[in-house]
Amino acid sequence: MVLTAVLASAQGTHPVSGRRIAGVMGHEGAAWLERPEREAEEAPRKAVAALNIKAGETVADIGAGSGYYTVLLADGVGPRGRVYATDIQPEMLALIRKKVEGRSLANVELMLGTETTTGLPDGSVDLALMVDVYHELAQPQVFLQAVKRTLRQDGRLVLIEFRKESPWVPIREEHKMSVREARMELEAEGFRLDRVVDVLPWQHILVFTVSDGK
Ligand SMILES: C[S@@+](CC[C@H](N)C(=O)[O-])C[C@H]1O[C@@H](n2cnc3c(N)ncnc32)[C@H](O)[C@@H]1O
Repeated sequence: MVLTAVLASAQGTHPVSGRRIAGVMGHEGAAWLERPEREAEEAPRKAVAALNIKAGETVADIGAGSGYYTVLLADGVGPRGRVYATDIQPEMLALIRKKVEGRSLANVELMLGTETTTGLPDGSVDLALMVDVYHELAQPQVFLQAVKRTLRQDGRLVLIEFRKESPWVPIREEHKMSVREARMELEAEGFRLDRVVDVLPWQHILVFTVSDGK
């Protein structure tokens, strides 16, 4: 399936790394997010397993899109846990709502965010996850501060991003991130790279913790 048609053009450069910020994927991109070959190409189930989510935790699926990960995360946190699924596009939230209602998932809550706000309560989240989202944040510096406020003590932020270091990964350049770029940009906002988990075919799993106590 061709992705290019649903990707907006780049929105400027990141002041710390010089990275070109990608345009936001429109909600027409939901078909690409739901493509049957995604499991083979991106191994989302393997990714969720690598996150070591504990039953009862609160996980924020930030930029949840059509909710592909949301339902996997809902299973991971179990009935005592909670998944916040956020997006800036109401059309995406409507798709997630359909899934959640269809599966009778009682532990998922939907939130409409903005380019600068998450919509999530402060100090409420054990794990903030952004899958294929960070590279298209229009205001990454402000947004990271907002994400940081949502984390509980010892909370973690995980980015899953297509590897810029692998030229053969068939994704447009500005929709990929290198470990170096992610590290530069997140360290500047008070995060520390805890580890890189490279078990996925096309993507890095980048695990960050808060380093500046704010
Ligand atoms: C490429 S899609 C990925 C969707 C989903 N994470 C997945 O992997 O299936 C990126 C999503 O991030 C959303 N997004 C972009 N900027 C955002 C922001 N500041 N806050 C919340 N969502 C955002 C877009 O609307 C889009 O639905």
